[in-house]
Amino acid sequence: MIRFIKTKDYADMSRKAANIIGAQVVSKPNCVLGLATGSTPIGTYERLVEGYENGDLDFSKVTSVNLDEYRGLTHDNDQSYYWFMNHHLFSKINIDKNNTYVPDGTIEDAEAACKQYDEIVRKSGGQDLQLLGMGHNGHIGFNEPCDKFVKDTNCVNLTQSTIDANARFFASKEDVPTQAYTMGIGTIMQAKKVLVVVSGADKADIVEKAFFGDITPQVPASILQLHEDVVVVGDEAAFAKIADRI
Ligand code: F6R
Repeated sequence: MIRFIKTKDYADMSRKAANIIGAQVVSKPNCVLGLATGSTPIGTYERLVEGYENGDLDFSKVTSVNLDEYRGLTHDNDQSYYWFMNHHLFSKINIDKNNTYVPDGTIEDAEAACKQYDEIVRKSGGQDLQLLGMGHNGHIGFNEPCDKFVKDTNCVNLTQSTIDANARFFASKEDVPTQAYTMGIGTIMQAKKVLVVVSGADKADIVEKAFFGDITPQVPASILQLHEDVVVVGDEAAFAKIADRI
């Protein structure tokens, strides 16, 4: 089942998404959080940091498993998702760094890297709550439109549209990695609860397609229609095409 929470703007979306994650941490201090990178969750992480600084949130017993990582980027590369998570969240809260996991982009053997990560997620007990952003083509994690839903952590070739969208973060388009390790659709769907954050008019088309269109691997996020507990927190602009249906 999908519930939609319409918010005024990005700041409002970030507050509400952080409240949902915060409630998870308060109600189960040793929970497993599935986390995402990208630009959309940055405000949510800022609010979570505030919650920690206020004394409202204690992350000391939380475990986190991130969705994805570029293949080949080292941890000190400021475009790696490892770096992103430390910069935006982990270094600013009291989570135990030993309990934070991001797929290891430095492992060259893709099969070994993906197997190892699935084992980490399995051993963690699985995500109590999985935070997701969504790409313009409906990708979740780095699961790109495809002719089947891939279950486990896998190594993907990024589509040109994703490479182009990510190019803004790199010195040049040639520097954008072309492959990534990502949790599979099955690994995402096993989360007990899924929280999707979407913001901006440029996401309005894909929001409609993903949540009201056909369930198809060509729109990977559409599989979420089959999950029993999904909350989509989006601002008015992102919900523009679905406003009369929610
Ligand atoms: C990030 C991730 C991606 C992003 C998606 C949306 O870990 O898995 O699926 O969530 O590309 O990115 P933004 O939020 O930048 O629009």
